[in-house]
Amino acid sequence: MSHAADSTPATARRAAGLAGTAEVPGDKSVSHRALILGALAVGETRITGLLEGEDVLGTARAMQAFGAEVARSGDGAWTVHGVSVGGLAEPEDIVDCGNAGTGVRLLMGTMATTPVSATFTGDASLRRRPVGRILDPLALFGARWAGRAGGLLPLTLTGAANPMPVEYTLPMASAQVKSAVLLAGLNAPGETVVIEPVPTRDHTERMLRGFGAELTVENLAEGRAIRLIGQPELAPQAIAVPRDPSSAAFPVAAALIAEGSEVLVPGIGLNPTRAGFYDTLADMGADLVHENPREEGGEPVADLRARFSALKGVEVPPERAASMIDEYPILAAVAACAEGDTVMRGIGELRVKESDRIAAMAAGLRANGVAVTEEPDGMTVHGRGAGAVPGGATVATHLDHRIAMAFLVLGLASRETVTIDDGAPIATSFPCFVAMMRGLGAEIG
Ligand code: S3P
Repeated sequence: MSHAADSTPATARRAAGLAGTAEVPGDKSVSHRALILGALAVGETRITGLLEGEDVLGTARAMQAFGAEVARSGDGAWTVHGVSVGGLAEPEDIVDCGNAGTGVRLLMGTMATTPVSATFTGDASLRRRPVGRILDPLALFGARWAGRAGGLLPLTLTGAANPMPVEYTLPMASAQVKSAVLLAGLNAPGETVVIEPVPTRDHTERMLRGFGAELTVENLAEGRAIRLIGQPELAPQAIAVPRDPSSAAFPVAAALIAEGSEVLVPGIGLNPTRAGFYDTLADMGADLVHENPREEGGEPVADLRARFSALKGVEVPPERAASMIDEYPILAAVAACAEGDTVMRGIGELRVKESDRIAAMAAGLRANGVAVTEEPDGMTVHGRGAGAVPGGATVATHLDHRIAMAFLVLGLASRETVTIDDGAPIATSFPCFVAMMRGLGAEIG
């Protein structure tokens, strides 16, 4: 598949020492959920710090299409007038979620128990990604769908007119599936139960409680049991979105691998279900200090100070995977600059992200002179050591923002430049990435 017409290549060259403060944008996961729950509340929800990346803007447009009033009142400041649980209107046109897997899956859950139909589509990356994992539990509520073979987009979903509450055990570790089931459960009478054998990010649970839903969590032998009482009236909230730990990972990693660097990344959300990458960096010997730990908007937050470090390869505990699932691409880039092997296992889910991230990272690293052993659900990066990655190649990013950013960061610590074929998808999650990195002294052009 070719995107040559509107692709924008970018090249990063070795940095002499990055310095300064990197204010990364709001959390993507929390931003999607704030718009959706705001749209289901009765009254006006005010959001500050919203990520104004393409993925989240797509969800804002979608909630408007479902009848909510969504308006921007300033930088990252948005208001949402909700339509109430069960009050969604039928969109008049196709809902295009662009590159956003989280957007489309959460939206499908949101509408699955309201008797409206909506047709969803997305870009070439999203149209390749499996939606069946969402449709299976939504069918249990009584929703129906018609689409391409295998449940690929575009597809039309019709919400259940008489939804049934559901008890569902997640077959894979996925916060998107968990959240879709909980959002569908909002408009089903009675108790919906989701059991997750492996804990995943819990923003939906926290936020549902914040909006006044009755939700309990119990730790059972088979996993976390989340119980939600359906058909609540949700009360509008003021939501301060914390800065995204998955975006912060890029300037933090850059500071650790570019010689002579020291970078402060303030106000990062460090919910334990999201912070595994920072634990792994500590295991690798990173000089990474958590300063001023505090709580903001119900989420733990800290300022991160990262300094250039001589890193060593580690074996990442597979049970940590869910808490750093989006950080494996940048971890692989960091691992290339560490001494010895970094072993990553239990990460088969990476193959169904915006791209097959195991294959994309392995190919890009090999092209730049780093040996990688690839497995069906893992990979080992054979680190070259600090400053010793050869670089010099152009990497295929497959419409994947995190592959694009990971290789630009690697270029800051490689002997030769590293080029990516397309930097445009970076705008889905981190629109100011290149400008921010340049502000720290990076040469990316
Ligand atoms: C997300 C869940 C994760 C993650 C994605 C955001 C969310 O996906 O990769 O970037 O906001 O719920 P999975 O649920 O597919 O693991």
